[in-house]
Amino acid sequence: MFDYQAPSDLLKDKIILVSGAGSGIGKAAALAYAHKGATVILLGRTVEKLEQVYDEIEKAGAPQAAITPFDLAGANDDNYQELVNSIHANFGRLDGLLNNASILGTLTPIQSYSLNTWNQVIQTNLNAQFALSKYCLPLLQEAENASIIFTSSGAGRKPYAYWGAYSVSKAATEALAQVLFLELENTSKIRVNTINPGSTATKMRSQAFPGENPEKVAKAEDIMPAYLYLMGNGSLQENGKQFDAQ
Ligand SMILES: NC(=O)c1ccc[n+]([C@@H]2O[C@H](COP(=O)([O-])OP(=O)(O)OC[C@H]3O[C@@H](n4cnc5c(N)ncnc54)[C@H](OP(=O)(O)O)[C@@H]3O)[C@@H](O)[C@H]2O)c1
Repeated sequence: MFDYQAPSDLLKDKIILVSGAGSGIGKAAALAYAHKGATVILLGRTVEKLEQVYDEIEKAGAPQAAITPFDLAGANDDNYQELVNSIHANFGRLDGLLNNASILGTLTPIQSYSLNTWNQVIQTNLNAQFALSKYCLPLLQEAENASIIFTSSGAGRKPYAYWGAYSVSKAATEALAQVLFLELENTSKIRVNTINPGSTATKMRSQAFPGENPEKVAKAEDIMPAYLYLMGNGSLQENGKQFDAQ
């Protein structure tokens, strides 16, 4: 596991947007960031799940979160612009963006891969991460030091047979993060890194490995040290790199 002990005030006064914050790794990250002092903007498509995370944050006495229902698969320019306008009006800036939301699609050979599913996976896992990052850049530029984390996968670092659009979307996410890092490294204080969470017990993991005992893989809470490290000021020197959470 990534070795890092975050101080209790690591993210004090930081404003952090987490996509896919309603469940799985995104939920664990939203809670971990809030517990370390951040105001977390919870973005996701299922309002009830976001409300549950909001309530958990409130119960813990952490800074009040904000809920942003948003469907990354169907959003257009106007939707992104409205999102950014609302964050700007409420907070004025963003200190962190965790691009986490993704879907698995189907595990099947390319020859039988549905074009519709392919498009949905690429839209959610790649195009939406591009769009969210692009639209959030002016907000991130307002912060003293901002961090963008893209979520990769073992299937992106070294593509897997039968993982089709998912594998391609994650390999392309690594490329997107590199392009953005190279564009920003000399002109801004925004750092850009990727995390491969590794095998983690979530809905997506059980969809990919239905026969696996979830007790045998890491819990989302266990992999948070890397997520905290990259969001906090202790990682200001980390830029354009690939991290493994486990
Ligand atoms: N778990 C693993 O072993 C593993 C390994 C490697 C990489 N990853 C990566 O880690 C990240 C988190 O995965 P996870 O395992 O936590 O998956 P998960 O439990 O399935 O959670 C995915 C989250 O993304 C949200 N989401 C999906 N489509 C969306 C859309 N169109 N608009 C807005 N939100 C959307 C989901 O919202 P709903 O809850 O409303 O569906 C959910 O909150 C993903 O990028 C995944 O590829 C996971």
